[in-house]
Amino acid sequence: MEAMDIGMNSSKFYVTTPIYYVNDKPHIGHSYTTLLADVMARYSRMLGHETFFLTGTDEHGQKVWKAANDNGIPAQEQCDRTVSRFKELWERLGINYDRFIRTSEEEHKGIVRKILTRLHDKDLIYKADYKGCYCVPCERFFTEKDLAEGGLCPDCGRKTDEIVESNYFFRMGRYRDWLIRYIEDNPSFIAPDFRRNETLGFLKKPLEDLCISRPKTRMSWGIELPFDSDYVCYVWFDALINYISGVGYLENPEAFAKWWPADFHLIGKDILTTHTVYWPTMLKALDLPLPKTIFAHGWWLTGGDKMSKSLGNVVNPLELADKYGVDAFRFFLMSEMSPGQDATFTEELFVARYNSNLANDLGNLLSRVVKMIVKNCGSQVPQAGEFGEDEESLKASLFSAVAAMKESIVSIKIDKGIEQVMASVRLVNKYFEKSAPWKLLAEDREKFATVLYAGAESLRIISGLLFPVMPEKMRELRRSIGLSEEDASRIDVSSLGKWGVLKPGSRVEDCAALFKRIEAPEKARTALPASSKTEAPPQALNEDGLISIDDFFKAKLKTALVLEAERVQGSDKLLRLQVKIGETVRQIVAGIAQHYSPEQMLGKNIVVVSNLKPAKIRGIESNGMLLAAKAGKTLKLIAVDGEISSGADVG
Ligand code: MSP
Repeated sequence: MEAMDIGMNSSKFYVTTPIYYVNDKPHIGHSYTTLLADVMARYSRMLGHETFFLTGTDEHGQKVWKAANDNGIPAQEQCDRTVSRFKELWERLGINYDRFIRTSEEEHKGIVRKILTRLHDKDLIYKADYKGCYCVPCERFFTEKDLAEGGLCPDCGRKTDEIVESNYFFRMGRYRDWLIRYIEDNPSFIAPDFRRNETLGFLKKPLEDLCISRPKTRMSWGIELPFDSDYVCYVWFDALINYISGVGYLENPEAFAKWWPADFHLIGKDILTTHTVYWPTMLKALDLPLPKTIFAHGWWLTGGDKMSKSLGNVVNPLELADKYGVDAFRFFLMSEMSPGQDATFTEELFVARYNSNLANDLGNLLSRVVKMIVKNCGSQVPQAGEFGEDEESLKASLFSAVAAMKESIVSIKIDKGIEQVMASVRLVNKYFEKSAPWKLLAEDREKFATVLYAGAESLRIISGLLFPVMPEKMRELRRSIGLSEEDASRIDVSSLGKWGVLKPGSRVEDCAALFKRIEAPEKARTALPASSKTEAPPQALNEDGLISIDDFFKAKLKTALVLEAERVQGSDKLLRLQVKIGETVRQIVAGIAQHYSPEQMLGKNIVVVSNLKPAKIRGIESNGMLLAAKAGKTLKLIAVDGEISSGADVG
């Protein structure tokens, strides 16, 4: 997707999350969208734009009704209890929303009723007999032709119930041609691109009118239709309206004119059709402009499946935040998922990313800079001398990270922006190693001051860029390099594109414990495929020196992504690597240190033998072997030609 000219270039920014069902407590799937919106909203505020961030809960409909019945409590109580779990989680995760909307609020219900009346008066809602198949968990009706084989729900694959009843319909079908044209003419309306194609594919079939009522005899938990008290409104019709009722539609014209249309609706890929077909047609019927971009992200998976309560594989965000810290959790979610794609959650990946990016790269840089200033400059940021080539290239890298971060926010590739910032962090670390200020101390005091100033000023820019992702930790970091409380917690993006903002003489303070290294969970270091434990002893070669294909396949070759790399102390040949192979993270000790530096290894997609018996090399456990070609003194790693996920089979 190209960077889009969206709200980040105008002076207001309105971003929404889906409103969450209150049938159960939130998990990391819900946290992800809300965090993404929070990061975007924080960044927009840093740009000085007026920002409105709306989130909330979807409280009507069969799912919530059923949960209340299962729990033996009234539906409203089910909502009230669960809402507080969402609110508590958002507070704990530092989510800075402007409004939390509940669809059971009187104000929202009133607006939905007014909309229903208006559409009914315009004959855009009519009554008819309806025969359909209903999926309770998805809250969706399907005609027979839409069902999957065996009459199952095409979305979740569960059994559907056949129903015939009188209902009210919204004349959605009449907008099909208009919607196709709109989507084609507005390439940034649905993102990423392949989701736009998915919606256009859906629209190739005739578009039916939308059943927007439920007879109370079947399910009464909803907003009563203003023109027929025997019915309540279909939960999706009610829920989508939150995006306009939340900013004052029909109630507060000034606010509504200010915020609508939204810049971004952030959603998960499973609710694409409701947002890119139902919602635009509803807005068209109301003569309202459409949101600028509907962005559908992928799913968080555990063990290869979507995380969901029914599969029993949910990860509890509160537990993770308690165990590793809120900002570490925010950082992981934002940096691990490429927003259009699915991502895998495992604790091993979490720990590996934390240790590599935060404890090693950023934590080390901070502690180096601050400790040296405390020890050698009376805790005051020194005055830099003349800049040389190295400082200029450092500056250039940081400024390009500033541009990359902005680009990554507007194109919702936040992981890429973070990656670029982390690359700058590594570059500053390299600059430190190359400049060796500890030697300069005796030899060239002015150069020493320049290196330390450059380190501290780089940290100011880096912490500003990561501020929307880790607001608390970055505030602490900024305080520690000598910024005032106000400058530490309020950032203006333009200050990140400038050099020399940190004032010499500012008082630095050590905050060594900002990102303490986490000991990798035991499983991560020793986990090996079961096959390796029952590995057969190597077979003798045939007489002709050839092996069979079966022999070859005994070695399980996999692609692996290098997450961390460091020299093994006391050895000039060995590197200790942490590599990601699918969902696991392994430690491999490799004799390549004379050919590749740790920095060169980071981010490489290499090939490893994944089912070798663990071995100890210099007392360090190694779980696998990487492949490399060697000729004389030259050694080159075997890598894959192009992008492929880690853990892919090689052979
Ligand atoms: N109530 C509707 C949304 C109405 S918006 C007008 C709904 N609620 S939900 O609670 O079931 O899901 C809310 C969001 O959470 C969806 O965007 C969904 O994609 C997202 N996620 C639920 N599980 C998820 C993962 N495992 N991973 C990522 N997001 C997922 O749908």
